[in-house]
Amino acid sequence: MMIPACPLADLPRGEAFRLETDPAVTVFHTEDGELFAIDDTCTHQDASLADGWVEDCWVECPLHASKFNLKTGEVDAPPAKLPVRTHEVVVEDGMVYVKLSTAAPNLPHCAVRKLAGTTA
Ligand code: FES
Repeated sequence: MMIPACPLADLPRGEAFRLETDPAVTVFHTEDGELFAIDDTCTHQDASLADGWVEDCWVECPLHASKFNLKTGEVDAPPAKLPVRTHEVVVEDGMVYVKLSTAAPNLPHCAVRKLAGTTA
């Protein structure tokens, strides 16, 4: 499924745009001008990667500093152990779209419970 994110003009280089999909997805526009989309939630705990620091094609989790590759989703080092899911980004007529992956997300247990509406 392809969903509209935002106009490319509203997403300057170095910025991120969080889509309130379920689960949330974030589009990153790198300083090099590349666009990537990954699941917004860190695979370790419930941290938003949209609030992380981007360098080259890596985003550093704001909570415990594991880094995720924006191209492949791979994680560099613990505490996160699982890769984050990646999505395809398409720009058409100045609009950024995200083609959502059909793979299962690697959400942390706390985020899965939140999505399910339970706290136990
Ligand atoms: S919440 Fe991201 S590394 Fe811990």
